[in-house]
Amino acid sequence: MANITFSSPIMHEQKTVYAVAGDTKTILALAEEHRIPIPFDCKDGNCASCLIEVTYAEPSVKKGIHLTEKEKAKLRELGKITAAEIEDAEVRDMPPRYRLACQFIARDEDVTVSFTGEPGGA
Ligand code: FES
Repeated sequence: MANITFSSPIMHEQKTVYAVAGDTKTILALAEEHRIPIPFDCKDGNCASCLIEVTYAEPSVKKGIHLTEKEKAKLRELGKITAAEIEDAEVRDMPPRYRLACQFIARDEDVTVSFTGEPGGA
C-alpha cells in the first residue's frame, strides 16, 4: 500500500490517500476519485496539463520506474527532465522529479505530489 499525499496552494490542506498494492490507477485517476483538482485535458500524455512534482519519502531507495516514450518526450519538451534523469530512471530505477499525473502509477512507495493548480504549472 502506498500513501499518496497531495499538496497544492489551491487546496485548504494536504490530503493523503491510500493506493492499494497492485492497483493500476494513475495518480490522476486517484486524484479525480478523491476530488483533488489536478488540472488535466487529454489524460493521454499529450497536453502536459497534469504536470506534477513528486517527492519520495525514501528518495535513496530504488523504485520501479516506468516512463513511456510519450511521457519522456513530453517532459523533455517542457525542459522538466534531463538526459541524466532519464538514464537514472531507466538504468538505476531512480525516479525523476517531474511526472505527468495521467501516466504515473503509484507502486508501493509513499510519495508527495505537488501541483500549482495551473495547467502544466507544477
Ligand atoms: Fe494531458 Fe496528462 S492530462 S498529459
